[in-house]
Amino acid sequence: MCGIIAIAAKNDCINDIISGLYSLEYRGYDSSGLATIKNNHFEYNKNVGKIFNLEKSVKKNKLTGNVAIAHTRWATHGKPSIKNCHPFIKDNCVLVHNGIIENYTDLLSQYSINKKNIKSDTDSEIIAEIYNKLLNKFNNPVEAIKNLNKKIIGSFSFAFLVHGSNSIFVTKRGSPLVLGIGKHFNAVSSDVLGLPDSTREIIFLEENDIAELNESSISIFDKNTRKIKREKHKFVQKQDFKIKGNYKHFMEKEIFHQPISIEDTILNFADKKRKIVYLPKSNIKFNKFSNIILVACGTAYHSCMVAKYWLEAMTNINVSIDIASEFRYRKNKFSLNSVGIVVSQSGETMDTLKCLDKFKKNNIPTVSIVNVLNSSIARLSDFILPTLAGSEIGVASTKAFTSQLSVLALFALHIQQQEKSINKLYFNSIFEIHKSVNEILNKENEFKKIAQTLVDTKSIFYIGRGVMYPMALEGALKLKEITYKHCEGFAAGELKHGPLALIEKNIPVIVLAPYDENYFKLISNIQEVKARGGRIIMITDKMGAKIAKKYSDKLIIVPKTNFLTSPIIYSLPIQLIAYYLAVFLGTDVDQPRNLAKSVTVE
Ligand code: F6R
Repeated sequence: MCGIIAIAAKNDCINDIISGLYSLEYRGYDSSGLATIKNNHFEYNKNVGKIFNLEKSVKKNKLTGNVAIAHTRWATHGKPSIKNCHPFIKDNCVLVHNGIIENYTDLLSQYSINKKNIKSDTDSEIIAEIYNKLLNKFNNPVEAIKNLNKKIIGSFSFAFLVHGSNSIFVTKRGSPLVLGIGKHFNAVSSDVLGLPDSTREIIFLEENDIAELNESSISIFDKNTRKIKREKHKFVQKQDFKIKGNYKHFMEKEIFHQPISIEDTILNFADKKRKIVYLPKSNIKFNKFSNIILVACGTAYHSCMVAKYWLEAMTNINVSIDIASEFRYRKNKFSLNSVGIVVSQSGETMDTLKCLDKFKKNNIPTVSIVNVLNSSIARLSDFILPTLAGSEIGVASTKAFTSQLSVLALFALHIQQQEKSINKLYFNSIFEIHKSVNEILNKENEFKKIAQTLVDTKSIFYIGRGVMYPMALEGALKLKEITYKHCEGFAAGELKHGPLALIEKNIPVIVLAPYDENYFKLISNIQEVKARGGRIIMITDKMGAKIAKKYSDKLIIVPKTNFLTSPIIYSLPIQLIAYYLAVFLGTDVDQPRNLAKSVTVE
């Protein structure tokens, strides 16, 4: 995988380009380069190695510019070297490319390209050469892209600079591109992380879209070059994450940010229209593994627990999960053909990092699902799947958790896609999650009322079945972490094997009960609690509510979910209940006692 960032601005944009490249470094960093257009003249810098090397040479050469395109490379065709480094400059155009052109040798003959003109070993330079020809033929950059796209087999996102224009021209198929709109600039990047901090709105391009952007406007065209509109989304500035704004606590702000963080994460890796999931490119063929081993700590471990249910049901791969602090010391044997996945918000958790080491020592390929891209875990793993939650300040993890779940859901769909068995219902439903999350946030007062009833209780329990079992554990963790109240989560079917002894009059039991295949079993468990005087707080959907009414002391209705979406959507009620209870109790919500955001000790 590679990363693209391009900016057309009123003022010099080179610093933003470099900082965008740093944010995209997780996509590859064996070489990088940038090009600008000034007075109809292309200037460029290319360097082998990390972005730091490019930054040094750009400063040394005093490269400036208002319109620039840039690329960080992860070699697929041709080793890391200056000659293989993007951008590729031809007479009339400059190109950066992310993806793989499968028919690039055929294209050479189709367009009668003189091989002598191709100096690199890449599949990309040929595209620059062809585009140059097409520009001469059509004298219209957008028409030239339309014709180019028709002939290409493979995946790509391209950004071009073109002689005689101060615009950037982009297009994509099978590789992500997101447009960023600022006050005095427009930008485009392989993901939202690469966009400048001062971006105000973003637009996710769809398959085969073509866009032209200059400092003040963006035009988008479909594959037939008809002008079209794409939905705009609010961009949350990176520095905004560090201030509370109108919120009382960071945790509150982070809970309310989730419609955006979840949608960003989903749209970054999935295309609704073409019905494909596109994780960053890698040599790892996930569907070829027989075993997936997921390890993490705390909340991140709960996301692994949920993923086990998903992956087992949706793919043909065996899945095991472990708490990192246990896994690192276990004398376990690794079966051949396993892949190790570590999940971590901070990317610095010592136990999780040590598990990564253990995988590496046993020659197990590693994947990290991380929120902090320059973290130790991200740097050490073979493949990174970023959670696009933005910085999380509150110690109790909220939006990072739902982004972890979102990435893991996409990962399960990605494997289904590789197995050619993608579940369309699940796939379509992931694009609606943010709406359901919003609906729940609009019911904040209902959760406040529930929290109020919990102020004087000494113990609280969460129960659930299936994917709601890990969510019950997460609900209990969130609650004890910030309210300091005793709270435990149970698999509902386990109550009668011991925990039922704890139920006495008025003990609150929060039931996570989407109307799914476990629902009626759960109703039986509720009756066991009710018969012993427990107070049932039921979180369910409309269908579930019809039946549960008579068993519940309090009922909150949330939107309908399915097996894949329910853990993400039911995260909201558990976070809101914990948060409002902590506020009523007056604890230090953002920095609860005895805890730390990044646990870098054993
Ligand atoms: C709970 C919480 C912790 C972390 C755990 C792992 O709200 O935040 O349980 O999930 O310490 O941290 P990361 O994800 O940074 O590895």
